[in-house]
Amino acid sequence: MNTIERFNSHIMPSYGRYDLVLQSGNGRTGTDENGKNYVDFGSGIGVNSLGYCDEAWVEAICAQARKLQHTSNYYYTEIQADFAEKLCRMTGYSKMFFGNSGAEANECAIKLARKYSFDKYGKGRHNIITLVNSFHGRTLCTLSATGQDVFHNYFFPFVEGFIYAKANDIEDLRSKIDDSVCAIMFEYIQGEGGVVPLNQDFVDEIFKICKEKDILAIADEVQTGVGRTGTFLAGEQFGVRANITTLAKGLAGGVPIGVCLADEKCCDVLSKGTHGSTFGGNPISCAGGMTVLERLSSGDFLAEVKQKGDYIKEKLLKIPEVEAVDGMGLMLGISLKTKKAPEIVQVALENGLLLLTAKEKLRMLPPLTISYEEIDKGIDILEKLLK
Ligand SMILES: Cc1ncc(COP(=O)(O)O)c(C=O)c1O
Repeated sequence: MNTIERFNSHIMPSYGRYDLVLQSGNGRTGTDENGKNYVDFGSGIGVNSLGYCDEAWVEAICAQARKLQHTSNYYYTEIQADFAEKLCRMTGYSKMFFGNSGAEANECAIKLARKYSFDKYGKGRHNIITLVNSFHGRTLCTLSATGQDVFHNYFFPFVEGFIYAKANDIEDLRSKIDDSVCAIMFEYIQGEGGVVPLNQDFVDEIFKICKEKDILAIADEVQTGVGRTGTFLAGEQFGVRANITTLAKGLAGGVPIGVCLADEKCCDVLSKGTHGSTFGGNPISCAGGMTVLERLSSGDFLAEVKQKGDYIKEKLLKIPEVEAVDGMGLMLGISLKTKKAPEIVQVALENGLLLLTAKEKLRMLPPLTISYEEIDKGIDILEKLLK
């Protein structure tokens, strides 16, 4: 049996996969079992932020594995302190909690918001407003938080206490606010929902309501965060900072991590015994994460992400089949005039280019380190396919 047959014999069929067995990677190029190369415009859904096997990142991970690979959260480690200190300094947050994925980071945010309200106002103020078309994860609670009916199936009963408001509709949002609401949770750009940005007025309104009513703002920056949009947090470009921000995906460059950042208002709510995770804060993940944070805070790295995003957008908009390009920095969603995105992703793969979809759009989340030469190479392949 070949790899795909063995895989399918023993692994649950919960994903729709492409017939591609990736065996190794170097920089922005992945290589399959047969030695064929692929320019990667997906980076494992925005995870390999520094590309494949970045030298400094590999070095940091290996050095940490040789030193201490794990310890329980009953003890302290220096690498966790280093990472948390740097991340809080870079984002302006007071404290953070370590998990292992975006869903876990969001679970933490939801628990934190409910406990903040419980501690201050008692029972009954537990509802969280999330947005229609959002995506917050695959655990039962984060599926419940996700504002898409398609995810609310099979696994009944779902978790209570989520109210869905229409994105970019201030009136609808206002109509959902009452004394039962403890938080508003949102993505600045809905990623899985089709790369749909919130508009400035709507974001301003969220923050206004939160301030008026002592409701916590929770920004799910699992996909938009860690430099993806050209600033470390996408919220910076809207001129706001939520009380809570969640990060995961690219934060440790390709090893599991998820964090929940909290500001001075709510950073001590999760008191002793109220939350935990065996693997949370794994030293190897923290070592990988330190490399990512150091790279992103060096020189003009983030400004270049923005410039590269603008460069890709400009090139894409010259392709006649391209209807529109949404997104910021290196998080881009492409609407096509006549062709179907999933079909293009399949043909692109056959032609040596890895792409993603988001709803009906093509989606690009290339490694933040992608070069202009690699961008040209990838767009050339796409352009030919779209002719
Ligand atoms: C905005 C957002 N939140 C949460 C998640 C869930 O992250 P994870 O798959 O790491 O649990 C995702 C994943 O795509 C996401 O895009």
